[in-house]
Parts: sequence; C-alpha cells; structure tokens
Amino acid sequence: MNILVTGGAGFIGSHVCKVLARRQLVPVVYDNLSRGHRSAVKWGPLEVGEIADSRRLREVLDKYQPAAVMHFAAYINVGESVQQPVLYYCNNVAATASLLQTLVDHKPIPFVFSSTAAVYGMPEQVPIPEDHPLRPINPYGWSKLFVERMLADAGRAHKLPWIALRYFNAAGSDPDGEIGEQHDPETHLIPLVIKAALGNTAIQVFGTDYDTSDGTCIRDYIHVMDIADAHVRALDHLLSGGESSALNLANAQGFSVREVISAAERVCGRKIKVQTTPRRPGDPAVLIGAADRAQALLGWKPARSDLSLQIADAWNWFK
Ligand SMILES: NC(=O)c1ccc[n+]([C@@H]2O[C@H](COP(=O)([O-])OP(=O)(O)OC[C@H]3O[C@@H](n4cnc5c(N)ncnc54)[C@H](O)[C@@H]3O)[C@@H](O)[C@H]2O)c1
Repeated sequence: MNILVTGGAGFIGSHVCKVLARRQLVPVVYDNLSRGHRSAVKWGPLEVGEIADSRRLREVLDKYQPAAVMHFAAYINVGESVQQPVLYYCNNVAATASLLQTLVDHKPIPFVFSSTAAVYGMPEQVPIPEDHPLRPINPYGWSKLFVERMLADAGRAHKLPWIALRYFNAAGSDPDGEIGEQHDPETHLIPLVIKAALGNTAIQVFGTDYDTSDGTCIRDYIHVMDIADAHVRALDHLLSGGESSALNLANAQGFSVREVISAAERVCGRKIKVQTTPRRPGDPAVLIGAADRAQALLGWKPARSDLSLQIADAWNWFK
C-alpha cells in the first residue's frame, strides 16, 4: 500500500517514512527539497515536486494511487513567519488549499496533517487540552489553524477523513542514527544545545525572569519516533473508518531551558556555555500539552520521550 508523504525529505516526515516502511507500507515522498534533504529519503521513492503544482501532483497520484496522504510539507520557523508572513500564508495555507483541491478532484483519501501547539497561543491552562481556545500569536500558528479549519470544512463537504496532530516540541532522532534533525537555520533548543556542546560555543537563553522554578521557559518535548508512531496509528484509525479529529502529541511533562541544558551536559559529558539574553516577545512561560485524546482515540502513549533519551538520540546523530 502506497502512502503519499509530502515533506518526507524533512525531519519529521523522514522518520515517519522509516516507521511506515517497517509496517510494510511504501512511503512515496513528495517534496520540493526547498528545506529537506535528498539523503533523508531512504524507504521509498522520491518524487520531487511542489504541493501547489497540481499537474505534477496529479501525475504522482495517478502513478502511485496512494491510500492516504501524510502532509508535512510546510515552512516551520516562527520567527521567519513574523518577518515574512505572506511567505508562510502562501506556502502553508494557499499551497495546502491547492493540494487539497487536487486530492478532492482525484479522490478524497484519508489525510494526516502536521499541526502544532502554536495554534493555542498563550495558554490559559496547562496541560493544554484540545478544547483550549485557539488564538495563535504568530503567522506560523495561524497558518496551521487555517489548514485545520479547511480540513474540517473540506472533510465534511468531500467526505475526506482527516486527523490533525498538534505536536508540542519535536526532538530526538532515529535511535539507529540513519536520519536526524537537519534544519538550516536551526531554531530548536535540543539541537542548538548539542551544537553548542560540540562546537564549544555558548547557547543563548532568552529570558531568565519567567514565573517558573528557575526563571527559564518550560516546554514539552516529544520524541520524533513517538510522533512517527502516532502518525501510523492515525493512519490505521482513518483507514478503518475512524472519526476525524485534532489531537495533541505531547509528553504532558515540561522541562525548563536550564533543565534541558543540565541534562545535555550529563548526556554529552561536556560543560555547556550559556549566554543569557532578555525575553523574546511572544514566548509563553510554560507550554505543556495534555495527550489524553490521542491515547483514547489512537491508543497512543509516548514510549521514548524521557528527556535524557531524546537528548542521547539527538547527540548520537549530531556526533
Ligand atoms: N519540528 C517541530 O518541532 C514541529 C512542531 C510542530 C509542528 N511541526 C510541523 O511538522 C511538519 C514537519 O516539520 P519538520 O521539522 O520535519 O520540517 P522540515 O523543514 O524538516 O520539513 C519540511 C519539508 O517540507 C518540504 N516543503 C516545504 N514546502 C514545500 C512545498 N511547498 N512543496 C513541497 N515540499 C515542501 C521541505 O523541503 C522539507 O523537506 C511541518 O508541517 C511543521 O509545521 C513541526
């Protein structure tokens, strides 16, 4: 059975491809390689293409007749989305609208979408449940929320079943070391801390005066292999006629920036230099997700999301 994986040359998509292949499914990667890596496509064919190019996409749909789509292709950098909002609305929203139209015209098939905790904005409560108000505070978060809205409407109108998975902070990497996180520029804390350890440079800590135990921001880190497992479960759920829904993928446990740095020092066996700077606008003090709905609907539970394990897997990859 073929599964179309848009953005499968990127960090999370490539890990999901590995898990799909383990399940004897064929991941057909559709990626324009704007931010991904040809070398990360190891478990099925790579079709280079742009999701908004409906002619090219139709060719690929006709060729492989996929049973479902997993849609990772997007730009992911919050800061960049603030600087270049239209770029984000074009690539994440307009191009996804075109992808959905092409699919609906071809054949509506189950659709698993990479959403984000950024749809919630400033949390009113933690852990954040899915029915928390949806008030993004940056264009990236809005771009993902618009797609969730589109899926709800298109799903109803065209009988296209969908699951939106709202990831908290994706981290870790393939424990076998075959693939890993390769964002350029990197903005995520764990790879930045590891790069600081390897290069003997300083890690920047934005804000030390938050209302948290050590003054630094608290985030919920979730292992990319746990995210991959949830995708395959979401696929099974939709293929067996399960209901459409938006689900958090979270560990329901938070770690402060300083706790991550200390854990990385233990895992890497190196002292990591820290440079403290003022808060960045728009960073909530604490972001932790409740994942009860994913557990109830998909039987999903994080298995690899111990913080040291996430750092150790990433460290092995970067080394
Ligand atoms: N990394 C995280 O912590 C995180 C957290 C929440 C949500 N997400 C979401 O997960 C998805 C994957 O994130 P990632 O970290 O793997 O990102 P990534 O940048 O590593 O991968 C994205 C891939 O999409 C491709 N792409 C982008 N625009 C495209 C287009 N128009 N047509 C075809 N291909 C295109 C890129 O070339 C890249 O290979 C994204 O949708 C992101 O918003 C990521």
